[in-house]
Amino acid sequence: MNPLLSRLHPYPFERLRALSRDITPNPAYSPISLGLGEPKHTTPSLITDALVANLNGLASYPATSGEPALRQAFADWMTRRYGVELNAATQMLPVNGSREALFALAQVVIDPAGGDATVVCPNPFYQIYEGAALLAGAQTYFVNSDPSRNFGCDWSTVPDSVWAQTQLIYVCSPGNPTGAVMPLAEWKHLFELSERFGFVIASDECYSEIYFRDDAPLGSLEAALQLGRREFKNLIALTSLSKRSNVPGMRSGFVAGDAALIKQFLLYRTYHGSAMSPTLQQASIAAWNDEQHVVANRDKYRKKFAQVTPLLAQVLGVALPDAGFYLWADVSKVAPGGDDVAFALALLAQYNVTVLPGSLLARPAHGQNPGAGRVRLALVAEVDECLEAARRIVSFVKSL
Ligand SMILES: Cc1ncc(COP(=O)(O)O)c(C=O)c1O
Repeated sequence: MNPLLSRLHPYPFERLRALSRDITPNPAYSPISLGLGEPKHTTPSLITDALVANLNGLASYPATSGEPALRQAFADWMTRRYGVELNAATQMLPVNGSREALFALAQVVIDPAGGDATVVCPNPFYQIYEGAALLAGAQTYFVNSDPSRNFGCDWSTVPDSVWAQTQLIYVCSPGNPTGAVMPLAEWKHLFELSERFGFVIASDECYSEIYFRDDAPLGSLEAALQLGRREFKNLIALTSLSKRSNVPGMRSGFVAGDAALIKQFLLYRTYHGSAMSPTLQQASIAAWNDEQHVVANRDKYRKKFAQVTPLLAQVLGVALPDAGFYLWADVSKVAPGGDDVAFALALLAQYNVTVLPGSLLARPAHGQNPGAGRVRLALVAEVDECLEAARRIVSFVKSL
């Protein structure tokens, strides 16, 4: 067996299941989960129609690089969304959801030979970053989210000695769970560090289309372009249809950026066998070429957040995020002992509402767990269900 497998940590939901094993939720309430970040809005018919119309695609093997029309759809979308012009043949690749690509990219980038290969991750973070680093033979270095910086990471806290060992950094903007969008000045800082120390930046942008302000979140390639970095050296953006188009089960996304990296990634993926089904390629083209359903989806989230956030703000430290579909709520002043796990377990027991304790989404680093005292609320269900959950949370907190 690969000994690195034993370094993997249990997934946050596994840990929550284990912690809540002995709890019987109050049967007076129907179960509501704000735990899993799985989009629940309806899949647009233009996507399901395209799937059905292209079932003949199941009869042929796909190329790992995807059909030219698919890559062109990616390139056109990048131009419309970010004003970035990319070479569809050399600077982009289809992936089967951003999760597998986030993982696979580390296997391509990391050279574990020196024994000190390091992957820098935000903290809290999407757990795939850590698993990808560990299985690639690297170690992780966590940079804590800072509430006083709109939950952004202060990259200047990372010592040069760590950057010198860093081969890859995961950036998540908009962030999960905080919703924070990384501003241009911080991209500039990271690009300069990447140039100086030679590490690759993997920019996870899967929440980019769900936002609450007037301006759409800045993308990494857009930031690079604004800073005159036209080659996107050592930069790769990962995006996905899962949240944008409510198709988490379709497993469809793409990566874009540095052509030299994309070339090596394609080589790796050819052996890994991660080509996208031709049927899904056609449905993906339909999805990327349509923006109307994305606007409608965003509007639904905006209305939902506008109703739910003020309700919860009566009792929790919570504010509308920049983007994403989570509320990152401070429960430290109301939870028993300020403990997010105790809060989540008591809420489940008394009101049958599942939320994810923030400490399970982060690792202790630099003397603290930056998720402690917070819970993540995924507002993915329809508005009535989210409102019902919020009312129960208000009653719960008032009872404490
Ligand atoms: C931060 C982050 N990145 C990536 C993913 C993976 O999304 P997908 O593989 O559906 O594109 C998720 C899913 O929840 C996520 O929260």
